[in-house]
Amino acid sequence: MGCTASNVNGSNHQKRPSSAKVQPVRSSLRLSNKDTAIQDRRLSNSISSDNEEYLDPNSLTTKDPLLLFRKWFEEAQYSEGVHLATSMTLGTCSKKGIPSSRIVGVKGFDSEGFKIATNKYSRKALDMMEVPHASLMFYWEPMNRMVRIDGPVDLLTEEQAVEIWKSLPRAAQLIHYASDQDKYLSSRQDFIDRRRRLENEFGDSTPIPKNPDWVAFNVRPEKWEFYQVSSDLPDRLLFTKENDATIDGVFCQARTNDWLIFRLSP
Ligand SMILES: Cc1cc2nc3c(=O)[nH]c(=O)nc-3n(C[C@H](O)[C@H](O)[C@H](O)COP(=O)(O)O)c2cc1C
Repeated sequence: MGCTASNVNGSNHQKRPSSAKVQPVRSSLRLSNKDTAIQDRRLSNSISSDNEEYLDPNSLTTKDPLLLFRKWFEEAQYSEGVHLATSMTLGTCSKKGIPSSRIVGVKGFDSEGFKIATNKYSRKALDMMEVPHASLMFYWEPMNRMVRIDGPVDLLTEEQAVEIWKSLPRAAQLIHYASDQDKYLSSRQDFIDRRRRLENEFGDSTPIPKNPDWVAFNVRPEKWEFYQVSSDLPDRLLFTKENDATIDGVFCQARTNDWLIFRLSP
């Protein structure tokens, strides 16, 4: 069946009370001056930061990007205003070269890489099976910081996926167990009913088994980019594993056994 007006406005939609006034909808195609002013203000907010500690490759507390990430991540977790420090944008690409992105929660990170978990039939999983590379982007807006991590992707073992599953809150397990992620649903109620059936089946204490379609991946960082706005200047540091310490005629600002550190134009 196609997507017709009758099935979009199906029986699950609540009827508007006859007394309710219909508000005119402003065209989203025309930006008024007011909208533009809001955008300008956002821009100027983002460049005035209290964070006076600027990023310098030689005075970094650590030149290991994993340790630097951990420091920033912990600071984000305790930062007022950052509600989900674990949320990041995951960018993938299909074998036809079509990119896509979405928010996912990082399930852990260590010297091997960043763990993510999802349904194996989701678009992101299919992309990563076809093109095993991904780009992660953490943006902690109240801190004026972002971190981009690019690298190859490996599918983790079933045992590792089970470990991640066990760490999820029960409510999240129920949703992931009930969800055929990315499949079209005929109604919201349909999904609510499915979840309720599972709730009754498992009760309060029976462990919810991992959805067999739930898999985990590891993204192995090959490039890290740390971006921080301090004072009125954005700093961008790239940690890369290139062989050559000179790129585009610029010698790296610092190095470790594993990483070359370059400053990038913001
Ligand atoms: C805060 C937040 C965290 C999320 N975490 C995950 C996650 O860990 N795994 C996942 O598959 N989807 C997660 N989602 C849902 C995805 O953003 C997305 O809607 C879904 O995975 C389908 O993406 P895809 O069709 O591109 O594969 C999360 C959404 C939000 C808003």
